[in-house]
Amino acid sequence: MLGEWMDVAAQPDGEGNVNVLSNASPLLGQLTLEEKASLCLGSDFWHTAPVERLGIPAIMVSDGPHGLRRQPDEGDHVGISGSVPATCFPTACALASSWDLRLVRRVGEALGREARAQGVAVVLGPGINIKRSPLCGRNFEYFSEDPVLSGVLGAAMIEGVQSQGVGTSLKHYAANNQETDRLRVSAEVDERTLREIYLAGFERAVTQARPWTVMCSYNKVNGVYASENAWLLTTVLRDEWGFDGLVVSDWGAVHDRVAALAAGLDLEMPPNLGVSDAAIVTAVRSGQLDEQVLDVAVARVLRLVDRATANTESPPLLDPDAHHALARAAATECAVLLKNEDRLLPLRPSRGDTIAVIGEFARTPRFQGAGSSQVNPTRVDVALDELRASAPDGVEIAFAAGYGIDTSDRDQQLAEEAVALARRADAVVAFLGLPAADESEGFDRTNMDLPASQTALLSRLAEANPNLAVVLASGSAVRLSDWEQHAKAVLECWLSGQGAGGAAADLLLGAANPSGRLAETLPLRLEDTPAYLNFPGEDGRVRYGEGIFVGYRGYDALDHQVSYPFGHGLSYTTFGYADLSANVTGRPQDGDLVVGVTFRVTNTGGRRGKEVVQLYVGDSEASVARPIRELKAFAKVDLDPGEATMVEFALTARDLSYWSTSLDDWALEAGEFELAVGASSRDLRLTTTVNIAAPPLPTRLDGMSTLQEWLADPTGSALLHKAVGTDETGRPTGILGNDELMRVIGNFPISTLAAFPGLGLSHSVVHTLIDQVSAATNRPPGATGESAYRQNGILMNGEL
Ligand code: BGC
Repeated sequence: MLGEWMDVAAQPDGEGNVNVLSNASPLLGQLTLEEKASLCLGSDFWHTAPVERLGIPAIMVSDGPHGLRRQPDEGDHVGISGSVPATCFPTACALASSWDLRLVRRVGEALGREARAQGVAVVLGPGINIKRSPLCGRNFEYFSEDPVLSGVLGAAMIEGVQSQGVGTSLKHYAANNQETDRLRVSAEVDERTLREIYLAGFERAVTQARPWTVMCSYNKVNGVYASENAWLLTTVLRDEWGFDGLVVSDWGAVHDRVAALAAGLDLEMPPNLGVSDAAIVTAVRSGQLDEQVLDVAVARVLRLVDRATANTESPPLLDPDAHHALARAAATECAVLLKNEDRLLPLRPSRGDTIAVIGEFARTPRFQGAGSSQVNPTRVDVALDELRASAPDGVEIAFAAGYGIDTSDRDQQLAEEAVALARRADAVVAFLGLPAADESEGFDRTNMDLPASQTALLSRLAEANPNLAVVLASGSAVRLSDWEQHAKAVLECWLSGQGAGGAAADLLLGAANPSGRLAETLPLRLEDTPAYLNFPGEDGRVRYGEGIFVGYRGYDALDHQVSYPFGHGLSYTTFGYADLSANVTGRPQDGDLVVGVTFRVTNTGGRRGKEVVQLYVGDSEASVARPIRELKAFAKVDLDPGEATMVEFALTARDLSYWSTSLDDWALEAGEFELAVGASSRDLRLTTTVNIAAPPLPTRLDGMSTLQEWLADPTGSALLHKAVGTDETGRPTGILGNDELMRVIGNFPISTLAAFPGLGLSHSVVHTLIDQVSAATNRPPGATGESAYRQNGILMNGEL
């Protein structure tokens, strides 16, 4: 704890903001320029820099999002040198499928406890990048294709970890949605898409959960490295969202330390020792970098060290069994039952029955992805063993590998054995999934397919025995449309951590009831995915051409059939929805608009189960292109058979708004909004509409505004009509009285029309109009159009 050095120990003000500079100023004054520069880089792969002479300790950071990867020795990126054993919780793709923020928070708490026990000050997660394409190699580390789900769960994870006095690093900020060329590629994204899709989850997590740190991504965003992107790191993150923590680089994301510092990047990891520190010192000495910019970054590093060392109590003793039990329970909540024909699941074997368990993954589980998030698990549940331990007495759980983990020429023999076993069994459970080599940090997949050895095996198993269930292990969407007809039931278990095997057994045998829902759409084929034509880009650029139409927003807009829609998931029970009502209070212009939504959910089946109720909103009258529907709220409810509960959601103006690039702000348009509640984005059980009375959106009229835009604005139209005047019959003169001209050139800017004779719009008329509208609406004219117009006017005829 640096308390004695820090003015007021970094106490936030009434609004929760911390003035880092004044808090740290006594200590800053004691540091030499070289020491300050050193604090803006780590001292090694996992530690910040100490300043021993002043008692400033180094603190340790470690990966990662679903379990601790604390390396005992020299660091490396991909776990080659191993890490101390830690609980491997479900990876983010799985955890998100629970749609359960309390669960995610509990997992975060456990992760925080393990970090504290291991002396780790900051956990490098969660990662909440949007799943733009199913091919992204790190999709297993990310939550969803939807920013609300990603943001809500990311915030829950941060709150859980940080409740233990351990920091988090929300990553990778921003637009890191692929691995291909990830250190150099420029994500070319328009601002509306950034705001509504790629930044919205970060915004929610930052404003709600206040992570201690945010990690910038490797890539460029619109041509500027995220590490040097002042708009991202300062304007949006700090000035708009009020982030008061520290920005750390992704490992190796800094290319110009001084430019990064000036943009708002406080800590470079791993340190480019002898280069970055020297560059900072030189830049300050030469006057290229204001020393105050350095001081602010140093103060943020000191505040992080202070936070990390504030708790001097010894960490609580860990209970690995309890954490394993949590990992297993969490994995149970994550599995998504995609289909269940003839109610094949849960299996209800009786004495003398044989269940054929087929697939090497049942014996050699796949439960996490590769790369920097890879955890060395404390133990691993094996589905085959768990099924054997839980099956009723007298039930044979017979096993055949069916396929090799790595494609091998023995596959044929393995397949024959498996088919023979399936033939004599009462039911078959095939454990399929992506090979480990397919899913990793560092590269993207090139297709969505399961290995051919597995799909070929499946069709033969189905011929041998129609009572066939598939248990899937994958960290991202796989194609099902070419094989799922062979299976009566499919249970997608994702990469669910070290308890995945136990969870699968509990779900298959009915000890647990599936309650996961898809956090990403499962498309029919790769070619249908909205980013298909623009992924992963070329020549160092990836164009986000699908814009805001990512995931279900795109499939819905294009009316594409999918294998299973966003939000889908079955249960062993059923649920009914009734009594939807929506009630508007407050007014957007007063900042207190609330749309209250209530409805009743009832467990209409025969066993206890959990339903994920989802609220989608659509603005069919919007003046801009908007998704047909967007997730705005959700809840997971746990109900006994016959039990009912009322669900309540409250929407704000922001939930109904879109990002207006022309207004540079969120915009809410008056009119009708459709609200739909249901069990998935395509299983909407009840719908209603609300009418929102919002003031008209402000328009900025200037010389580059078209005649039609002037006429659409009540003030602009009145001024225009007055300026143009009427003939003796009362009809407007010039272009305003000529419908045909209006149709053809009404979309010309009025500054252009000023040079056309006979329209009633001379340059002096237009100039006066601009001044009048700006005075009447108290709005400055749009800068570009206005200055362009005035300049042109002056140059053209000197009239102005
Ligand atoms: C990854 C980060 C990770 C860091 C440290 C980077 O390559 O992108 O997610 O936290 O390494 O291992």
